[in-house]
Amino acid sequence: MLYAQIMAGGIGKRMGNVPLPKQFLMLGSKPIIAHTIEKFTLHEEFELILVSVPTDWISYTEDILKKYGISDNRIRIISGGAERNDTLDNALKYIEEHGKGGIDDLLITHDAVRPFITRRIIKDNITALEHYDAADTVIPAFDTIVEGENGEISSIPVRDMMYQGHTPQSFRISSLKESLGKLTIEERQKLSDSAKIMLLDGKKIKMVESEVFNIKITTPYDLTIANAILENIH
Ligand code: CTP
Repeated sequence: MLYAQIMAGGIGKRMGNVPLPKQFLMLGSKPIIAHTIEKFTLHEEFELILVSVPTDWISYTEDILKKYGISDNRIRIISGGAERNDTLDNALKYIEEHGKGGIDDLLITHDAVRPFITRRIIKDNITALEHYDAADTVIPAFDTIVEGENGEISSIPVRDMMYQGHTPQSFRISSLKESLGKLTIEERQKLSDSAKIMLLDGKKIKMVESEVFNIKITTPYDLTIANAILENIH
């Protein structure tokens, strides 16, 4: 079975002083999260579309779906967790409890605050899992990436081999659980990126090409850019 998870469990601290977690802010005529959910409902292949939000915002999210006429019966609004990891864990638990429990279950996870995800990117993630345990959506780094600490550069990797990580991140659920199961509680707390956890466990991860406009809305500046993108590509 193929499952989607829209990750909206954060509160958006870097968005500054706004009245709502950033995923609920308006982008054009509807909330950011509504744009993202709609993109996933266009895919018939998903068995369930899990929308993970902070527990206190579950009924608010239900109201958004009603208000904007998003009535797909595959959508389940569930609690996120304190950290992104916990939000993923809660979805894995939900699938364990409510899914059909197949060995070939696949999960496509996506940031709610990347509303410009395309059909092609979702498709490529699904296809990648035919031959890989995981897929990560990336874009080549345009700027030189510099590594450093304490104010000093420690290395300048070759730019041609550098990519920036976007989402979706996609997993064969059985393989992800296997890798997670090998971690100690301390390691699990330190390692926040599930693709990295699988990489460290020796699994091969397919890079899926993103689009420059698949931006993550993190700051007020990003929201301005997102409104400009919306006007120009839709
Ligand atoms: N996210 C989540 N559960 C968390 C934390 C984040 O599902 N415990 C989601 C966010 O809602 C967002 C996505 O992960 O859609 C990307 O994370 P980020 O942009 O860092 O979101 P926030 O954690 O909300 O932002 P900030 O770090 O500024 O508080």
